[in-house]
Amino acid sequence: MIRSVVRGFGTALPKRVVTNAELEKTVDTSDEWIVQRTGIRQRYIAGEGETTASLGEAAGRAALGKAGLTAADIDVIIVATSTPDNTFPATAVNIQNRLGMHHGFAFDVQAVCSGFVYAVTTADAYIRGGLARRVLVIGAETFSRILDWTDRTTCVLFGDGAGAIVLEAQEGAGTTADRGVLTAQLRSDGAHRDKLYVDGGPSTTGTVGHLRMEGREVFKHAVGMITDVIVSAFDATGFTADDVDWLVPHQANKRIIDGSAKKLGIPEEKVVITVDLHGNTSAASIPLALAAAAQDGRIKQGDLVLLEAMGGGFTWGAVLLRW
Ligand code: UT7
Repeated sequence: MIRSVVRGFGTALPKRVVTNAELEKTVDTSDEWIVQRTGIRQRYIAGEGETTASLGEAAGRAALGKAGLTAADIDVIIVATSTPDNTFPATAVNIQNRLGMHHGFAFDVQAVCSGFVYAVTTADAYIRGGLARRVLVIGAETFSRILDWTDRTTCVLFGDGAGAIVLEAQEGAGTTADRGVLTAQLRSDGAHRDKLYVDGGPSTTGTVGHLRMEGREVFKHAVGMITDVIVSAFDATGFTADDVDWLVPHQANKRIIDGSAKKLGIPEEKVVITVDLHGNTSAASIPLALAAAAQDGRIKQGDLVLLEAMGGGFTWGAVLLRW
């Protein structure tokens, strides 16, 4: 049975770090409030010349380098983003060109903070369906460009960045002892649209718009939705929380991460946290966290890794993979 195995990973962050103390100067907030309510201490903000495509390209190059591959070895590029450089063409096609890749195909996936989970699931389906042997999966965002910097309830929460992995077709025995993606569970429900959305778009206002969020409402749903989809992943594979070596969650809020881990019975020493350093980078947050834990040796070959995310839409999902 064909499995989609992680062959390489990479990240890219903007040059500029913005601390909570810096935000205190522009909006009515405090380092204490932000740390207590979210766990965020700093975030990276894109400057001139830094865009979703440039960050995604850099993360993609890093992942290819780690895998010992070049763009010539890739069949498909999938970019998860809600902050594309342009309405069209897709950021993935832009990155394809920047990488000097003129074969195969590239497209974007838009599922907001769940984007990376959706993109990995899509890549896995292409690989197992025989449409591709190697897929470069990138999560890249510049949420700073859609924030209302006068709205303290949202502007302190988000940051910019990109992360990427190379998924490669490898033969497995068809058991859950295989390396690679073992199950992927996706959900969405548009009834929750007004709790987290952008108040603009090409077909409505003709402008890009700004992010709007009823944070408390999103928070209320988050833990339940995340645990629900993870239980589906366990049901599909026969694994339990005890089998998980690493939980690599979407990094929106440390309280949501802690609440979900606690509800599932996953101890905090098995949870990868980067929200303190990056803030919420939407589709980029999981690959940024994954790469941090793989780079410092926490995640090792053979480990069972659980990815999960929830975001605007609402969309939510989980992927269980063996590293
Ligand atoms: O990644 C996509 C999914 N997004 C999320 O997962 C975000 C989910 N939501 C959250 O993480 C949390 O709801 C927030 C961090 C956004 C807010 O935390 P909260 O504990 O739910 O706070 P709250 O919204 O209930 O606000 C509490 C108070 C309010 O004041 P009053 O009404 O109690 O007087 C807010 O006005 O905190 C106030 N507040 C702030 N104070 C200082 C809101 N934002 C700020 C701020 N600085 N930046």
